[in-house]
Amino acid sequence: KILILDFGSQVTQLIARRIREAQVYCEIHPFNHIPEIDESVKGIILSGSPCSVRDEDSPRVDLSLFGSLPILGICYGAQLLAHQGGGSVQASGHREYGRAHMTSVKESPLLKGLSATGQVWMSHGDTIMELPSEYELIGSTETVRVAAFAHISKPIFGIQFHPEVTHSTEGSILIKNFIVGICGCAQTWTSDSFVDRTVSELQAKLGNDKVVLGLSGGVDSSVAAVLLHRAIGKNLYCIFVDNGLLRKDEFEQVLASYETLGLNVKGVNSKQRFYDALKGLTDPEDKRKAIGKTFIEVFDEEAHLIEGVSWLGQGTIYPDKIESVSLKGPSATIKSHHNVGGLPDFMKLKVVEPLDALFKDEVRLVGKTLGVPKDILGRHPFPGPGLGIRILGDITPAKVDILQKVDAIFINGLKEDGLYDQVWQAGAILLPIQSVGVMGDERTYEQVVALRAVSSVDGMTADWCHLPYEFLGRISNEIINKVKGVNRVVYDISSKPPATIEWE
Ligand code: XMP
Repeated sequence: KILILDFGSQVTQLIARRIREAQVYCEIHPFNHIPEIDESVKGIILSGSPCSVRDEDSPRVDLSLFGSLPILGICYGAQLLAHQGGGSVQASGHREYGRAHMTSVKESPLLKGLSATGQVWMSHGDTIMELPSEYELIGSTETVRVAAFAHISKPIFGIQFHPEVTHSTEGSILIKNFIVGICGCAQTWTSDSFVDRTVSELQAKLGNDKVVLGLSGGVDSSVAAVLLHRAIGKNLYCIFVDNGLLRKDEFEQVLASYETLGLNVKGVNSKQRFYDALKGLTDPEDKRKAIGKTFIEVFDEEAHLIEGVSWLGQGTIYPDKIESVSLKGPSATIKSHHNVGGLPDFMKLKVVEPLDALFKDEVRLVGKTLGVPKDILGRHPFPGPGLGIRILGDITPAKVDILQKVDAIFINGLKEDGLYDQVWQAGAILLPIQSVGVMGDERTYEQVVALRAVSSVDGMTADWCHLPYEFLGRISNEIINKVKGVNRVVYDISSKPPATIEWE
């Protein structure tokens, strides 16, 4: 495997994704929290950073830890190699940002197969002015002389640009040159090999133990369930709770898919319990907490009905596990995400998370290998508190009914017009205001709904989707004609940041 040491760059995860795409396993670790370097480690990558090596308190790493392993420094990582080796790094007059073209000035295994003037992506404020004496220059761009360099006798390389972003058109070749050509990693990280290995590991770990797992209808919990089921069969007990805040008919449809997959799944209708817990609550955080607490109670009661269960299965994925580098203190809590705020004390279950090494796109590939249907794998993300945070203000079954109908028209319309897969997440929001309308000769005074559709990679940032006007017009008509109680439809054109994807 390859270890990526994170110095706090925004795009460190992209380095890992590119390596995984080349079918090599890699892990991200904070620069100040390096795991033991055992035989499985074949190479080291030093990431970029918002810091400058010229600052005294900027993040450093002791390179002697890595013995004779190959090292690739990217941007800040490259400047660190130059600076720690005795070269000179200075503030460039202007920030280098955007496309540039690199010409190789010396043959190097790192640059093998790259075109003569390939496009690369620059984003840096510092520039390497002079290389240490044991390094030599291997590539330059129009404005950056030291764009790529190599050690004269050791497999150590530095590059000023970012090969991990797609704007560096041949970045994947460069990364492959490093991890396969230079580090000698075998390209065996495939979903088939992952499934085979994980199934044996789970069998060895779990033996004849029983596992309980909460299904949500989403990709991660579904794939985790199918993988565990492949390993331990009937010893996996799945629970799918209807909290009364799911999409229209979703409970029945998803339950039916799970049964087709052969999962041992119990559907629990707890709608009323959630509505009771939510009664009169209007504050978003209070609603989230009430939904989370009720879910834990229901799940816990159900888990207790399974005799002798000793494990809790979870669909946690790698991005939730990556320890983040904190250079500027903890970030503020904007919303108390992730409904399940820990387990109740009396449920002393051990946790098994079979997907905790995978990125989302890898989870989908594994799901495909396992035969999970496309309608589950391609599903948009849906928040744990469901429609509960898309009905602004207090929640009643009547409002849920209205929003489910609106949402279904929007989502089905996206599917019918082939737009669903182009959108990262979509849904409707019931606003707590009424507006005047006219229907036939009658004045109406009814509710407003907002439609939201965004494009995103991971939900951290998002842009509103430019859906065709004709489509929006048709959906608006259909909603107002068919859903009693709604007489106005608006479309949300805010991006995140500064807005968020959900309204609450
Ligand atoms: P925001 O609204 O913060 O949402 O831009 C980013 C992503 O997270 C989802 N989300 C939640 N998921 N529990 C969840 O499980 C929550 O409380 C929650 N709030 C937001 C949201 O749907 C989007 O995908």
